[in-house]
Amino acid sequence: MNRITSAAEYKKTYKASVDNPEKFWATQAKTFKWKKKWKKVLDWDFRKPDVKWFVGGKLNITENCLDRHLKKRGDQTALIWEPNDPSRPYKSYTYKALHKEVCKFANALKKNGIKKGDRICFYMPMVPELAIGVLACARIGAIHSVVFAGFSATALADRIKDATCKMVICSDYNSRGAKNIPVKKVVDEALKKGCKSVKTVIVHENTGDKVTMKRGRDKWWHNVTKDQKGNCKPTVMDSEDELFILYTSGSTGKPKGVVHTCGGYMVYTSYSFKNVFAYEDNDVYWCTADIGWITGHSYIIYGPLLSGATTIMSEGVPTYPDAGRFWHICEKHKVNQFYTAPTAIRALMAQGDHWPSHYDLSNLKVLGTVGEPINEEAWQWYNKFIGKGKCPIVDTWWQTETGGIMISPIPNALKTKPCYATHPLPGIQPCLVTPEGKEIKKKKAEGLLCIKYPWPSMIRTTYGDHERCRQVYFSAFDNMYFTGDGARRDSDGSYRIIGRVDDVINVSGHRIGTAEVENAINEHDNIIESAVVGYPHAIKGQGIYAYVITDGKVKDKAKFKKELDAVVRKFIGPIAKPDKVQLVSGLPKTRSGKIMRRILRKIASGDTKNLGDISTLLNPDVVKEVIKGKV
Ligand code: WTA
Repeated sequence: MNRITSAAEYKKTYKASVDNPEKFWATQAKTFKWKKKWKKVLDWDFRKPDVKWFVGGKLNITENCLDRHLKKRGDQTALIWEPNDPSRPYKSYTYKALHKEVCKFANALKKNGIKKGDRICFYMPMVPELAIGVLACARIGAIHSVVFAGFSATALADRIKDATCKMVICSDYNSRGAKNIPVKKVVDEALKKGCKSVKTVIVHENTGDKVTMKRGRDKWWHNVTKDQKGNCKPTVMDSEDELFILYTSGSTGKPKGVVHTCGGYMVYTSYSFKNVFAYEDNDVYWCTADIGWITGHSYIIYGPLLSGATTIMSEGVPTYPDAGRFWHICEKHKVNQFYTAPTAIRALMAQGDHWPSHYDLSNLKVLGTVGEPINEEAWQWYNKFIGKGKCPIVDTWWQTETGGIMISPIPNALKTKPCYATHPLPGIQPCLVTPEGKEIKKKKAEGLLCIKYPWPSMIRTTYGDHERCRQVYFSAFDNMYFTGDGARRDSDGSYRIIGRVDDVINVSGHRIGTAEVENAINEHDNIIESAVVGYPHAIKGQGIYAYVITDGKVKDKAKFKKELDAVVRKFIGPIAKPDKVQLVSGLPKTRSGKIMRRILRKIASGDTKNLGDISTLLNPDVVKEVIKGKV
């Protein structure tokens, strides 16, 4: 697999990838072990949508993540796990050891009735068993659906039901900072909400604190794996067989299950990993994301392991036991590539410049960011205090739906520029379009970001509802994938991502649909109507601002805010709690009754001067009231 190392090479490679995408991706795919070669590289029709890569090819992704490396790197460290509490020992697995653990658990899954195509839900903290479990599913062709362990029982139940999961795999508790959060208890609660498809729950003992086990349904991880053999033949999968489902938020209330398939995802995550992080043999790479999100899937597990890398996963939080934790881990494991979210950088920056200075960060070569736009101040701090001005910062733009990094600098080949994700990776053909759907040809422009041509790791469908996939991503503009983001392009062709143009907000790098939050808030007895928007937040990127109309019976506002927090916690999870709540008597609406979110967004951001023409509103007077009552 080629790794780009100069500007000239990037130019040449990019051109080749666009002139003949099939040839380009066939070359990349040859790196891997296929049980049967594909008959055709690509079949596609965005209008349906129907996209197939490496058609007719047969493979198993774990054979490529693990077995393929055994001969050359059996004794090399594949995975390092750093616990929440630094006084506890870390764990590490060589490729050989990881292979063995994955096989053992794959055999345990089979023993418990799991077959190819079955869906398995993971609701776990960042423990090695999560990575092992996910790979074990892929080993036997079961489809994993990882749900971030911060979601509530209701949100978990919704996702289990949508994918009709046969099994749930969880831990007893989650050690996070100074907290010990119950995990199994949430699963028990979720399963009481009509998850009839679940036959078995496998519980991994993490903290060892007490949980209740339901007879006949719940089994301990250590018991089911105890007598299993350390090898398990990988199930032969078609390139287009489903690998995993990952739920993400959109404009409408219900999260959708983004489906990724085996062949294309394998080729693209590895290709992008090697290029964007300039990964070289024996480097130690650390991505701080949670495996509950796409970044953890593609760039903690699959991309690095497919590339024979040493990948770190960490259980804790950036500020526990103190704000030097990240840098401590970088020093301890001599990290070469470090990948995190702007929100974490901002939070650490706020703790003072001295924290990183206590640690040896001299092994760092590349720094990455993902999940939200990075502001210039955070970029400069990252560059100065962490990278010491010598590490390229790769600002990587991509999405759950894209499966892998789409627009990003490539170290030493593409110049970095604060706030810019810069240029597309080879094979990626972005464009800007007007709201009417016309492609903007002029280089320097601003518009809606679309992708014109398929790439191997793109979304194939939304689980159980293909029409929804078509509607959300392929119907806005003809023959294009619409990202939901707005972007600016410079005269040198480099892209700056502005942010979502739909009703999705990005809170600490977490994607949250405003409709989801509204639905949760509306469950409170005193609420008549609500409207939720994002507003700029110094640490989180965006905060959640809720405008609510109540039945007039709210007496104690502080208590009411707590109740709203609780209801959001119950239906979604703590990540979606509103930062600000404003009681209003009405919401600005169009004559057809649509809430004018644009106006609410502006007011929440403190920009009350440029509200545009409000005279056509159904209730223009309410705007004054909303402005006056801003919290
Ligand atoms: C935003 C995360 C600016 C964007 C991998 C996108 C970014 C959404 C960047 C996807 C970036 C991601 N600069 N914005 N470098 N990376 N985004 O699905 O709005 O959790 O649409 O995937 O995050 O979030 P998701």
